[in-house]
Amino acid sequence: MISVKPNIFHREQFGASFEWGVVISSFQNEGGTKKDGKGPSIWDDFVTRKGKIKDNTQPLDSGMFYDRFREDIILAKSLGFDVFRFSIAWSRIFPNNMQQVNQAGINFYHRVIDACIAVGLEPVVTLYHWDLPCHLEEKGGWAHRGIIFAFEKYVQTCAMAYGNKVKRWIVLNEPLAFTSLGYMLGIHAPGKRGLSYFLPAVHHACMAQAMGGRILRELSPGSKIGNALSCSYIYPAGLSLEDEQARKRADALVNRLFLEPALGLGYPVEEVPVLSKIERRYSTWRDWDILPFQFDFIGLQNYFPLVVKHHSLIPILQLAEVKPRSRKVPTTALGWEISGDGLFHILQQFSQYKSIPSFIITEGGAAFNEQHTEQGIHDPHRVAYFEEYLMAALKAKKSGVPLDGYYVWTLTDNFEWAEGYRAKFGLVHVDPHSGERKVKDSGKWFRSWLRP
Ligand code: NOJ
Repeated sequence: MISVKPNIFHREQFGASFEWGVVISSFQNEGGTKKDGKGPSIWDDFVTRKGKIKDNTQPLDSGMFYDRFREDIILAKSLGFDVFRFSIAWSRIFPNNMQQVNQAGINFYHRVIDACIAVGLEPVVTLYHWDLPCHLEEKGGWAHRGIIFAFEKYVQTCAMAYGNKVKRWIVLNEPLAFTSLGYMLGIHAPGKRGLSYFLPAVHHACMAQAMGGRILRELSPGSKIGNALSCSYIYPAGLSLEDEQARKRADALVNRLFLEPALGLGYPVEEVPVLSKIERRYSTWRDWDILPFQFDFIGLQNYFPLVVKHHSLIPILQLAEVKPRSRKVPTTALGWEISGDGLFHILQQFSQYKSIPSFIITEGGAAFNEQHTEQGIHDPHRVAYFEEYLMAALKAKKSGVPLDGYYVWTLTDNFEWAEGYRAKFGLVHVDPHSGERKVKDSGKWFRSWLRP
């Protein structure tokens, strides 16, 4: 068996300044939940609730990034990457309230940033990757307006601490995911449900992304500031006008909701009229001047396309997804459709916003099962997945999309939120008992052509 497929890529195809990165996040990777004064986050709480994590696993506490960050950073470098993207756990910096800073938490991320710089990896810092401190959720979390001011203080603190070392920032990671899954559907932390949580959470996250951007602009001069948005190209199920309108509604929600306010275009109220409640109930007239912010880049995270059809019985959006299984298309272990074309089309769609100077695919990857043998860990489906998605990214770049980087989700297998540990996205396997890291074939495949 040839364990590492010969590659079809080389760095030069994407251009000399194209950035190759790997990504992790604080809650999914760190462990050390109570170490050095860390306070609880909504995810620490959520995982303990019965039935919330599909495979009933719990995040490991030791042998994780908190204890082994130097090793993971060296590993990322050894696979040939240029960038290491990670997030800061807000509850390490402000464990119990927004008045007292935990210096040990600040120091931890100094060590992480310094370790990146020492091996020649560029640290890319995400300020919010879903692990809100519990003391803020107790006040209403993202659904409460006070979150904006708490976030401001948190960003200021991080920018003052790390602003002269970090050259690329991501303010929020996938605001649509944490507001919809956490405050509308209740399947992610904090497990709230309904429009009366979701709509204010959307607005406060839009305000926070812009205000966070402005603070970084002031306190981390010369750095590049972006936001990481989930996105999916939407296909209508059929040729009817109704399905086409359903496509437009889904597109407004999935691809435009958090971007267009930042671009000064407001919320896509025409397609999703319920959003007009934001204006009526959850905002002041001054907010509309605060929402726009000129990001230096937009991070796009596309895992799958969506196919939707009109469905008059479904409330609010009146549409339903036509699931990949019923369409008999290839999928990952999580049942997500594999489609390089979907990536190509969504990149083209976003490039129509001419005021966005640069895009980075700030996450891309897939969950697959793998085979362990004496020779190694074989994950050929993941390699094939990257071949298809990278080809699509390259085609988009050649067609004129200003695409400047691709970051792989993720370095090491980690805790996939409500899916638990069963969904494995890593280029590197982690032994749950010893914490030992073993590079999978997909990691070796990247190394075979990324390493200079
Ligand atoms: C999106 C999220 O940012 C990340 O936390 C998650 O694990 C991956 N996508 C895969 O679902």
